[in-house]
Amino acid sequence: MIQVENLCRRYGPHTALDGISFEAAPGEVVGLLGPNGAGKTTTMRILTGYMPPTSGRAVVAGFDVQTQSMQARAAVGYLPERVPLYPDMTVAGYVTFWAQMRGIRKARTAAQQALEQVDLWDRRRSLVRSLSKGMRQRLGLAQALVHAPSVVILDEPTIGIDPQQVIDVRQAVRGLGVKHTVLFSTHILTEAEQVCDRVIILNQGRIVAHGTPSELRATLYAGDRLYVQVSKLNPEAALKALKSATGVARVEPSDGGYLVYGQPNIAPGRTSQVRSRRPAG
Ligand SMILES: Nc1ncnc2c1ncn2[C@@H]1O[C@H](COP(=O)(O)OP(=O)(O)OP(=O)(O)O)[C@@H](O)[C@H]1O
Ligand SMILES: [Mg+2]
Repeated sequence: MIQVENLCRRYGPHTALDGISFEAAPGEVVGLLGPNGAGKTTTMRILTGYMPPTSGRAVVAGFDVQTQSMQARAAVGYLPERVPLYPDMTVAGYVTFWAQMRGIRKARTAAQQALEQVDLWDRRRSLVRSLSKGMRQRLGLAQALVHAPSVVILDEPTIGIDPQQVIDVRQAVRGLGVKHTVLFSTHILTEAEQVCDRVIILNQGRIVAHGTPSELRATLYAGDRLYVQVSKLNPEAALKALKSATGVARVEPSDGGYLVYGQPNIAPGRTSQVRSRRPAG
């Protein structure tokens, strides 16, 4: 599992992560959804031990990423934004190499299992350079899975690949949720909905909403608009009463009555506390 408590990260004067907290349970696929610069990669780099937080705490598979960094790293598989691939290696050779780097004794067997898991075993003898982009992403995934980590962290694995291959990669990620805790980043809402059990929306280093895809879909809609006529109050008092009602964003006089705009459920800095947990397994 993953536990993140009040994580902050500054780059010089710039605050990239501003106190985020969340959890991912075993067997859950959690999506980190957010626009460019939201802090997705920063979060993932902290969780994978590539970079320390400025403050706060992160625990993966029970190990603190700072004080137990070796154990934490061993428990995590990471597919970074840009996968370092070696074009002149074969597919099997590449994954076996990573298995050896991870200290696995039966490196070839581990490589075979990982390649089967991402449906690339048929291409084991191909040179990495001959793979399509989507296949390369799946090869990156095999590299992340080769040591059978309990936590898998994938940074925008579908970026820059064609629609059919996007489907394949999404399916592969979805399937990982059976055995692993998965944290997966994307900037595409529909992708997060399709792949994840739970979605965390990040914007400018803060969590602005989290919940199951259907909960988020319901809350993501902008507030409703209502036309109201008031008979027994003078216009000023009516306007004041409507404006002070709970959930009202603004009120506009219109056509002898008032247009009352409900508050959108998500605005930067507001947190929509929709939480739910799928049972592990
Ligand atoms: N090494 C760095 N030095 C300085 N600023 C950085 C560094 N890495 C990231 N940042 C800044 O931190 C913020 C968060 O960046 P991050 O890469 O985590 O966002 P992201 O959500 O992954 O974005 P993208 O969708 O573009 O990948 C951005 O404002 C970015 O410019
Ligand atoms: Mg990023």
